Amino acid sequence: MPTAIITGITGQDGSYLAELLLKKGYQVIGVARRSSTVNYERINHIVDDITIVQGDLQDQGSLLSLLEEYKPSEVYNLAAQSFVPTSWNQPALTGDVTALGVTRMLEAIRFVNPKIRFYQASSSEMFGKVMEVPQREETPFYPRSPYGVAKVYGHWITVNYRESFDMFATSGILFNHESPRRGMEFVTRKISNAAASIKLGKTKELRLGNLEAQRDWGFAGDYVEAMWLMLQQDHPDNYVIGTGETHAVREFCEIAFAHVDLDYKDYVVMDEKFYRPAEVDLLISDPSKARAQLKWEPAVSFKELVTMMVDSDLARLKKQ
Ligand code: NAP
Ligand code: GDD
Repeated sequence: MPTAIITGITGQDGSYLAELLLKKGYQVIGVARRSSTVNYERINHIVDDITIVQGDLQDQGSLLSLLEEYKPSEVYNLAAQSFVPTSWNQPALTGDVTALGVTRMLEAIRFVNPKIRFYQASSSEMFGKVMEVPQREETPFYPRSPYGVAKVYGHWITVNYRESFDMFATSGILFNHESPRRGMEFVTRKISNAAASIKLGKTKELRLGNLEAQRDWGFAGDYVEAMWLMLQQDHPDNYVIGTGETHAVREFCEIAFAHVDLDYKDYVVMDEKFYRPAEVDLLISDPSKARAQLKWEPAVSFKELVTMMVDSDLARLKKQ
């Protein structure tokens, strides 16, 4: 039975990846940082099938000892301070976790067993003010937030350890991926939750920032499959993962509200508070390398994603 370590196990992607690896017969070790209240909402249904260990990307020793104890063949580094607006309020923390945390994990692997296969959760946020449309593996980076800057560091240190120490260090450049398990502050979940809540008469309006920003949105459940495929290749590499389609935030609102027979224009209020100091206006992937080499294709369409999220929020809110 192969053993995989997942950092960020309590996050959206950690939960889907753990489910996938369990199905494939892995022993799954999930790294969670210590907090005063347990935060296993997304993994409660599988918590008895995985091993949760305490660890923190800010603490080198914790990473070394968990690799020594569990001897994984694969490490998926999904942990990060991942919310873009927070990265302007806490830029140093974002750099420490999201950038330097990658080096700490790579160092731990180099010391304990350099044969461990490593996956780094890189991001389309690195393309920022895009230098090319659509974005592919060779598109130059121009990050627009401290988060994006930290992810660029994480990407390049992964490439550097691959080239310096011949390690199997792979960088997955994933475009936005969402699900009913998405954090409430991200725009898609904020919209799906509000559409459901307004429909049920629990809320009256939805306050949003830039409705014209365009993203290449896919389903997180599809994207974790790509992470696994990347670590099953003969060689480490960089891969862009996305749908190849882009949609505006406004379009997400339109479909989400229409799904519950409402017109978003009656409820969405523009609020300056949600505008960013520097915006990423347009992201759209060219995933042809992943298609050709990984044989990866997303299964869930944009409309299916939006309606899946609204339906899930409706069902959850009805129970409350
Ligand atoms: P998420 O839901 O925000 O999960 C982040 C995870 O990181 C949580 O489990 C969090 O733990 C953990 N974490 C934060 N700081 C940590 C630290 N110092 N030490 C250990 N764990 C820490 O993010 P996600 O959407 O699943 O994304 C997974 C990864 O992919 C992230 O690296 C993100 O930046 C990257 N990414 C995401 C997308 C996307 O669209 N979702 C696209 C491209 C790249 P707590 O629960 O304790 O906070
Ligand atoms: N969060 C949020 N809240 N975003 C809003 C709002 C709002 O009220 N109103 C408009 N937006 C716009 C943002 O300005 C941005 O252009 C877009 O919606 C998407 O914002 P988020 O959902 O917060 O995601 P993100 O694109 O900034 O970052 C996500 O995707 C990255 C991959 O490109 C995160 O998951 C990152 O961790 C990930 O790397």
